[in-house]
Amino acid sequence: MKALVINGPNLNMLGIREPGIYGSDNYDRLVQICQEAGAAQGFDEVEVFQSNHEGSIVDKIQEAYGKVDGIVINPAAYTHTSVAILDALKAVAIPAVEVHISAVETREDFRQVSHARLACFATITGEGLQGYAHALELLKERLEK
Ligand code: DQA
Repeated sequence: MKALVINGPNLNMLGIREPGIYGSDNYDRLVQICQEAGAAQGFDEVEVFQSNHEGSIVDKIQEAYGKVDGIVINPAAYTHTSVAILDALKAVAIPAVEVHISAVETREDFRQVSHARLACFATITGEGLQGYAHALELLKERLEK
């Protein structure tokens, strides 16, 4: 079973970027958490991808069709703007979990909209980087049903 973890813009800046909101761990740590949690959940492979470009994220979701069993996605700022990412998730219809490191529901009004959420069976917010481990757990449960 293969999981794909997709991270949107500025998540490569973790550790440097607004540590009061996103914590002091860097992107390499995020990758490590995903790979360890994926192995613990019994996934054969967890690919972790990051891009600052909306179209590259759409391409990655399309490429997952027929190859990936489940997706964990933090579209970052594109959460709040991208119908293209929503449509790509709907097109491939791969079970997906939305993750946000911060508690977006307690932040600015513009962060209260999530387009990607409409194509995800669960959303995790405010659990820091461990939210990715939680998402992989939910994904595994869903795929076993
Ligand atoms: C984020 C929340 C978004 O609002 C923001 O644009 C991000 C990160 C999070 O993980 O908390 O870049 O998705």
